[in-house]
Amino acid sequence: GLEWGEGVALVHPDGGYLAKMGVGFRGEDLREDLPEQAAGKVLSGGTGVTSVGGDIVAYAPVLLFPKSGRKEAGYWVLVERWPEGVVFASAREYRRTFLFLGFGAGALALALSLLLSRRLTGPLMALREGALKLGRGELDHRLSVRTGDEIEDVAEAFNQMAEQLQGLYHNLEEKVRKKTEELEEAYRELVRAEKMAALGTLAAGIAHEINNPLDGIQGCIARIRKHPDDPERTLTYLDLVEEGLERIGRVVGQLLDLSRSRELSLSPTDLNRVLEDTLALADYQLRKGKVKVVRKLDPELPRVLGDGHYLGQVFLNLFLNALAAMPDGGTLTVRTFTRDGWACAEVRDTGVGISEEDIGRIFDPFFSKRPSGEGTGLGLSVSYAIIKEHGGKVEVESAPGRGATFRVLLRTVR
Ligand SMILES: Nc1ncnc2c1ncn2[C@@H]1O[C@H](COP(=O)(O)OP(=O)(O)O)[C@@H](O)[C@H]1O
Ligand SMILES: [Mg+2]
Repeated sequence: GLEWGEGVALVHPDGGYLAKMGVGFRGEDLREDLPEQAAGKVLSGGTGVTSVGGDIVAYAPVLLFPKSGRKEAGYWVLVERWPEGVVFASAREYRRTFLFLGFGAGALALALSLLLSRRLTGPLMALREGALKLGRGELDHRLSVRTGDEIEDVAEAFNQMAEQLQGLYHNLEEKVRKKTEELEEAYRELVRAEKMAALGTLAAGIAHEINNPLDGIQGCIARIRKHPDDPERTLTYLDLVEEGLERIGRVVGQLLDLSRSRELSLSPTDLNRVLEDTLALADYQLRKGKVKVVRKLDPELPRVLGDGHYLGQVFLNLFLNALAAMPDGGTLTVRTFTRDGWACAEVRDTGVGISEEDIGRIFDPFFSKRPSGEGTGLGLSVSYAIIKEHGGKVEVESAPGRGATFRVLLRTVR
């Protein structure tokens, strides 16, 4: 049955009902049942839909002479009135269906993805974990995934990759080990070469160091011969002979020590003593080069953890560098002191100095500004390496024409 508000009517353009059905149109005239504006539209002879107080009103003219196609020839209006609820019921129905379907599909998708992801994430997590482990260097890590699908294939590929990586790594390790050994050997060779070069520089001085006391000894022996019956005199000369022999022994000992190569081994060492011994070794060269040596050695200097032999090589290079930097002579100041718990040995010269450009390169191997044949360019790089081996530091301060100061800092022993 028709609800309240529903109805169909055939209306005369002046508004009077020709026929009506249902409860949508209750009056005698359409103008009683619809507001004026809506009634105007309906009766105008056009086709349309309008909304009236919650109802939908649809209207269309029925031409009385359809063949003429002219409204003006006369028409009635067919008008229908339906509550919105009824009109949109089907639309709402559709919407409900769609919502339900939507939710259903969503829920299904969720359930499926959960299911899938549980099947996926397990193996994928294992893959991820494996990759991380591999990255951390656990090269013997392997995956065992038995899913019987592509993931298992990936895991298999992963394992193969890990296998190859492990192989490559072992190869590489072996190569690095070999190269390191070669490098170390080459480096030891360089250290030896630098030392030999330094010794070469010293050779003339060393000959002198030995010849001087030898002359003295010969003189003493001649005097003793001349006065064979003067025991007091003989004793004095014998003392001098002994002193001379000691000097020769020291020089030869140092020479031997310096030319021998052995492993670096750290033990409590008297830094002042190392400096004195090395200065003695270079003494002749320095004097010949008109270099005045000023010693400011701190007698309270604590002992350092060091290798006297290698430290001697470092200071010998610093002294010889200073000597080379003062071609017209100058002053070499050797100072020791403690600073912030370090024992410092400072070697300062009044030579040509080092330019800002060069100062960053003087520790590079083979960097030398000395005429070829005179310098190896290895002294400072070897010295630096030796001090690093000691856990120490090397500082340098210089400016062109203002001399240079090298400082070696070493750990002290309590
Ligand atoms: N005391 C110094 N004064 C000026 N220049 C220096 C001094 N010590 C080192 N140098 C510069 O650093 C360079 C490298 O020194 P080094 O490594 O001992 O090699 P080499 O003495 O064989 O040249 C020297 O050639 C020189 O140019
Ligand atoms: Mg040098």
